[in-house]
Amino acid sequence: MAKNIVLLGFMGTGKSIVGRRLAVELKYRFIDTDHFIEKRTQRRIPDIFAEDGETVFRDLEAQAVLEVAAWSGYVIATGGGVPLNKANVEALQGNGILVTLTARPDAILRRVQRRAGQRPLLNNPDPLGEIVKLLSQRESAYRCADIQVDTSDIPVEKSVNLIIDQIKPRLGAS
Ligand code: S3P
Repeated sequence: MAKNIVLLGFMGTGKSIVGRRLAVELKYRFIDTDHFIEKRTQRRIPDIFAEDGETVFRDLEAQAVLEVAAWSGYVIATGGGVPLNKANVEALQGNGILVTLTARPDAILRRVQRRAGQRPLLNNPDPLGEIVKLLSQRESAYRCADIQVDTSDIPVEKSVNLIIDQIKPRLGAS
């Protein structure tokens, strides 16, 4: 059974776009935990945050992670807060190779601004300051991965190739 490739990282580091392309290259299937939650609940993530709060969202997220972590042969793009919960990381490690995507705060801001309103945690008068603050709070959680790729200044294809080069030996061993 093929191990999953799990993409972790802050909002705007490219998990979804890189993940989709990676799945095509590897002939894996693709799932994004945020889309999974939206499909399941028939609600948008910003609405869940606004109407029920972050704790309810984190519970839905943990359920989604448990479910998709049990699949095989998937590239799994995770929401930026997934590694904050140790149980999520343990479940994903069970059958997955973990890859953290990173990016500089200015690159993150540029990318998230293209889809304004989609990231409730960055609905803030100082989004760059909020990004820097959250990144420093989360730095150690993102370090749980086997592999790290900085996507700040490289095109999607290059990130995909860097990931493939690094996971190849591990895929062979699985
Ligand atoms: C979050 C990241 C979002 C989404 C939610 C919370 C976070 O996903 O899960 O808004 O805590 O960093 P993306 O990383 O795909 O934007």
